[in-house]
Amino acid sequence: MSTHRILFVCLGNICRSPMAEGVFSHVAAEAGHAETFIVESAGTGAWHIGNPPDPRAVAAARARGIDLSAQRARQVHVKDFEAFDLVLAMDGSNHADLLQMAPEGHAHKVRLFLDHLPQSGGREVPDPYYGGDDGFEVVLDLIEAGSRTLLARLT
Ligand code: 4NP
Repeated sequence: MSTHRILFVCLGNICRSPMAEGVFSHVAAEAGHAETFIVESAGTGAWHIGNPPDPRAVAAARARGIDLSAQRARQVHVKDFEAFDLVLAMDGSNHADLLQMAPEGHAHKVRLFLDHLPQSGGREVPDPYYGGDDGFEVVLDLIEAGSRTLLARLT
């Protein structure tokens, strides 16, 4: 089976995309496909470069058996569009920023992550950064559903 290289992208790379990296890697490994995927995450913004994920994201993921603590935030780089087969945006703003950055011939790799869910055209993973802890549960539920659907599409 060929390898799929997937980059999950949000704004800060401390909430949504680290959770997507952790959850997708977890469901792929559970299904016996750990070797099939190279998975990373990045942010369009530079504020949190080098930082671990938001403690609320780490705690919410840990409660589901997923460890995000070793992740460190980085910014999306133009070379990522060559290095990855899929560049999956969490929301429409991330999607627009990525399309601006994508070198010629690579824009087809840029998608909204939740477009892989059935009947979810344009659906976004909402930014939980300024909300309460329950926002992280809603986001994790969406990310888990999106990850399982994406995995099924690619395997
Ligand atoms: P994320 O959440 O994009 O899911 O990582 C955010 C984290 C930080 C900021 C915005 C969103 N911020 O403005 O610092």
